[in-house]
Parts: sequence; C-alpha cells; structure tokens
Amino acid sequence: MLEAKNITKRFAGVTALKDVQLHLKAGKVTSIIGENGAGKSTLMKILSGVHLDYEGDLYMDGEKVVFKNTRDAQDAGISIIHQELNLLPQLTVVENIFLGREIKTLLGFLDEREMQRRAKVLLEKVQLRVDPNTKVKDLKVGEQQLLEIAKALLLDTKVLIMDEPTSAVSDSEAEILFNIIKELTKEGKAIAYISHKMNEIFTMCDDYVVLRDGQFIGAGPIQGVKEDDLIKMMAGREVKLHRHNEDVPREQS
Ligand SMILES: Nc1ncnc2c1ncn2[C@@H]1O[C@H](COP(=O)(O)OP(=O)(O)O)[C@@H](O)[C@H]1O
Ligand SMILES: [Mg+2]
Repeated sequence: MLEAKNITKRFAGVTALKDVQLHLKAGKVTSIIGENGAGKSTLMKILSGVHLDYEGDLYMDGEKVVFKNTRDAQDAGISIIHQELNLLPQLTVVENIFLGREIKTLLGFLDEREMQRRAKVLLEKVQLRVDPNTKVKDLKVGEQQLLEIAKALLLDTKVLIMDEPTSAVSDSEAEILFNIIKELTKEGKAIAYISHKMNEIFTMCDDYVVLRDGQFIGAGPIQGVKEDDLIKMMAGREVKLHRHNEDVPREQS
C-alpha cells in the first residue's frame, strides 16, 4: 500500500536516515524496530508529510506521491499518531476530533449536532467511553491515544502510523489498543507500529523492519524471526542473553 524507497534524510550535520526502504501492506501491522536515535520517528514523519526535505521516493498504491504538508498526506490516507500526542488539552473531545475539519450547516454555522453524532460513532468504534464534551486534559493518556485514533478514522485513513503508543499507557489500555488495531487490519488498513516491547511486537505485528543508526538492517515476517535475532539486528552486536547458544540466521541486508 505504502512504499518508501531509498530514503535519505539529513538534519544539519546529522544523517538521520541513509538509503532506507519500507513497505507497509494493507491489512498488516509492520513493526518498525530500532534503538533510540535509529531514525524510526524521522522515517514516520517523512511518510506523513511532516518532513518535506528528503531524498528518495514514496509510492502509494504503486503511484509516486510527494506531500506538501501533513494535510496533504492525510488526504492521501496517511495519518500519524506522534509519540508526543497532538491534542489540545483545553478543548473538548469533539472539538479535537473536528479541529480544522468542522462540519457546517448550509447557513455556515457549526453543525454541533452532526459533529456530536459523528463523534459518538467514532468514539464507539475505538471503544472510548467518554462524553464527547469532556475536556481532553481530563482524559488519561491511554484515552488520549484512543482519541487520536478516532481522529484518524474521521479522515478515512488507509495507513495509520503509531509511534510508541504504549509507552505511557496501562496494560488494560494497551489491550484495548491492540483490539482496535486488529479491527483496523481486518478492514484492510496498513499499520506502522513503533515499539520497544518485544512481547507486543511478537503478538501484534505481522512484519518487521529494523533500523540501526539510520540504516536499513533487515525486514521480513515476524513468524520467521526470533527475539534474539531482532535484538542482535537492533544492537549490531551479539547481545548476551542468559540462554544456550543457538544458531542465528544471517541478517538480511
Ligand atoms: N528535528 C531534528 N533536528 C535535528 N536532528 C534530529 C531531528 N529529529 C531527529 N534528529 C536526529 O535524527 C536521528 C534519528 O532520530 P529519531 O528519528 O527521532 O530516532 P528514533 O525515533 O528511532 O529514536 C537522531 O540522531 C536524532 O538526534
Ligand atoms: Mg522516536
């Protein structure tokens, strides 16, 4: 569904990504794995129209795309939920969902009723059981994550990027999140999932991509890989685990 080829990104003096490939497939969850500073967030920001200045090409359903801004990427069906969430705490749930995309009546007034109605449908879909008029600052972090997903669903998202969505949520909130991700893949959406947590990667994800120091290290189906292999690919060295020696397949390059 979404392909990135030969992506290179430099920030004054720092090469954050060097010739990186990525393929996000419809109905699949792809885990983007790498240590801190590996370039995961930078790559996701290129896919979603946050960073506009890079080398390489993006293809959506086989066609080359160039985004001018995040709105452009959203219109193409790509939404990102940033590690540092992007909601306005003083506004309500419904106001956040429709921010910049307000529904108006024929006379040009805000159509509060219609926005309330549609907000309820979206909240139901992400199993977020709060009043749409609650202020976002009164929601828990996990609830804010779900609200971000609801927002993305308003936009008819085909590709949903989640940057470390469970880093600050409880186990039960994470469980809800996983159920929703499963539902979204059933609808054919492609998910990019950034996480450090190996148990999540192995239970949630279909494919993996490993980055290290801005370089593409390997990719493939999760089924064909062991936890030790991923850790070794991330770290770039043999990591001593308290385990007997096992044959490790070679890294792809
Ligand atoms: N806006 C920025 N300006 C300068 N350097 C950046 C910026 N964003 C990221 N970097 C650098 O790019 C590299 C990759 O960062 P990042 O993509 O955030 O890694 P990750 O998400 O894998 O932890 C790091 O060296 C980081 O310091
Ligand atoms: Mg990051």
